[in-house]
Amino acid sequence: MTDMNREWTSLVATLICGTVVTVTFLKWLGHQKVQKKIQRARARRDAGLSQAQQTVQEFKEKNPGLDLSPIVDLPLAKLTKQIRAGSLQPDAVLHAYMDKALEVNRKLNCSTDVLMESVKQLSEIESHRDGLLYGVPISIKDNIAYKGHDCTCGVLCKLDDPAVMDSVVVTVLKRQGAIPFIKTNVPQGLLNYECSNPIYGMTVNPCNLQKTCGGSSGGEAALIGGGGSILGLGTDIGGSIRIPASFCGICGFKPTSNRISLRGANSCVKGIKSVTSSIGPMARDVESLALCMRALLCEDMFTLDPTVPPLPFNQQLYENTDRLRIGYYENDGYLQPSPSMARAFQETKKLLEQAGHTLVPFKPPEMYTTMHEFIVKGAVADGAVTLLSHLKGGPVDPSVQSQIMPYSFPRFVKKILCIILKPIYPRMAAVLDVLNGVNSVAELWKQHHAIENYIHQVIAEWKELELDVLLCPMLGPAYNFSYCGKLTSALSYTILYNLLNFPVGTVPVTTVTAEDEAKLSHYRGNFGDIWDKLFVKAVRGGVGLPVAVQCVSLPWQDELCLRFMREVENVCAYNKSSNKTC
Ligand SMILES: *[C@@H]1O[C@H](CO)[C@@H](O)[C@H](O)[C@H]1NC(C)=O
Ligand SMILES: *[C@@H]1O[C@H](CO)[C@@H](O)[C@H](O)[C@H]1NC(C)=O
Ligand SMILES: *[C@@H]1O[C@H](CO)[C@@H](O)[C@H](O)[C@H]1NC(C)=O
Repeated sequence: MTDMNREWTSLVATLICGTVVTVTFLKWLGHQKVQKKIQRARARRDAGLSQAQQTVQEFKEKNPGLDLSPIVDLPLAKLTKQIRAGSLQPDAVLHAYMDKALEVNRKLNCSTDVLMESVKQLSEIESHRDGLLYGVPISIKDNIAYKGHDCTCGVLCKLDDPAVMDSVVVTVLKRQGAIPFIKTNVPQGLLNYECSNPIYGMTVNPCNLQKTCGGSSGGEAALIGGGGSILGLGTDIGGSIRIPASFCGICGFKPTSNRISLRGANSCVKGIKSVTSSIGPMARDVESLALCMRALLCEDMFTLDPTVPPLPFNQQLYENTDRLRIGYYENDGYLQPSPSMARAFQETKKLLEQAGHTLVPFKPPEMYTTMHEFIVKGAVADGAVTLLSHLKGGPVDPSVQSQIMPYSFPRFVKKILCIILKPIYPRMAAVLDVLNGVNSVAELWKQHHAIENYIHQVIAEWKELELDVLLCPMLGPAYNFSYCGKLTSALSYTILYNLLNFPVGTVPVTTVTAEDEAKLSHYRGNFGDIWDKLFVKAVRGGVGLPVAVQCVSLPWQDELCLRFMREVENVCAYNKSSNKTC
């Protein structure tokens, strides 16, 4: 080798080494920055929690004779009555719930932010004496804007970006006298149903700490199910209110989209139209959901957001007691219900028949193509680009890794995998195929049009049978950890109603028995593929966990849906058990 060559070689080597060192250093620096950001957020949350603890302590010291614990046992209807009558003071109620929420949070990790403004709100609460939620402390999901606080959606890029104003729902509920006092945890990016993210960690199930609380409104369901909140607000774009409600044994309601203003609800998939999202209430009983809807559906909301149809709560429809014609299906042809889901459904159906209602078989048409061509393809119409862009520049939570991995495969890899998988696992191949989303605006329009036709096809069949409402199974029981991200296929029962944009709610009706658990050994699933096998593993070990059913109505008949839920609650044994919180 000549000296010249040697010099060149060493120069190139130095350059390569230099580049590697610089890149590694920059990566390390980036990592440090991210870690600092996360640590700051956690420190902020922890400081809020200690401050709340101190406030509760001071309140107790100032009111030595006052026993706060019976307050959190009252159902909402009784609580509001006692506050209005003056036998309970709003400050006692707020501190009682703050105390309980802190205790529940220590066990479940469900809080992201304590809203200490709630204590200040007490000083002017008297001016809201006429409000429907006068003096009621409420919890809100992380992504619902509260002035001065982050709406992280569990992603780093939305951290340190406090809301400049309250969301419409928070504004309206405050005017009705409600006192938002805590924000609750969500999955990273909101598009998963296991409640874990790199910022605030994982929230667990109040009924069994070894199980997930579900998501995306998981912190809400865990806190309410654990008794630390009496009323909460969640959002639902595929089951995000209903799944955690079902997993934690509480009631949840997804109204018709835009019946309740979505202004100020943050998301990582803004702009999505194929599947609709809704804000809705979560609580221990149906009456509380109805009260929250009544409080929201007022002039204030219609003025603050004129895009919301000005339809006040139809009390007459809610209170109606005429016998109903109830459509039903037990198996949607996509996910075979788990044994407890099926039993919960069958028992409810029987009880409704005994109560004098008429039950009529009904089946949502073409579930297989609907799941793939409309729902999955619609949810990732952009090829998941928008969602993935929110996960950049930080750690990806283990709970979402297996879900998002295929999103980031190049198009041709998806195509090749699809061809390979098709003969053995046709369902997985079909999903991979649609993960590329739609290719053009023309194709998106075509898809929207096809979905409109599908919705009208379902409505036509519904009308043909002269149905009032529909009863169907609800996903459950709560899963073991790390399965949600692998089982988006299990969303078929819930996400269909985001596609159809029908109001729908869940009511817990029973708990998993040893017999249900034993029957899992014979579960084969509608396809017998990897997903069906995973589903069994996910729900194993569920004895004692709550199981729910879903109640559905046609769009804008939200009050009829709630009335049907109340009916289900009334006939079911779960309602009769005195201890409804886990
Ligand atoms: C709660 O989350 C933190 C991270 O913020 C984690 O370190 C802790 O283990 C979690 N606790 C539970 C009970 O999961
Ligand atoms: C699921 O969780 C239950 C209860 O914690 C446990 O007994 C069971 O082994 C778990 N199963 C799987 C497959 O993880
Ligand atoms: C079920 O709960 C409702 C309140 O939501 C109550 O009015 C009703 O009496 C309960 N039914 C039974 C059988 O306990």
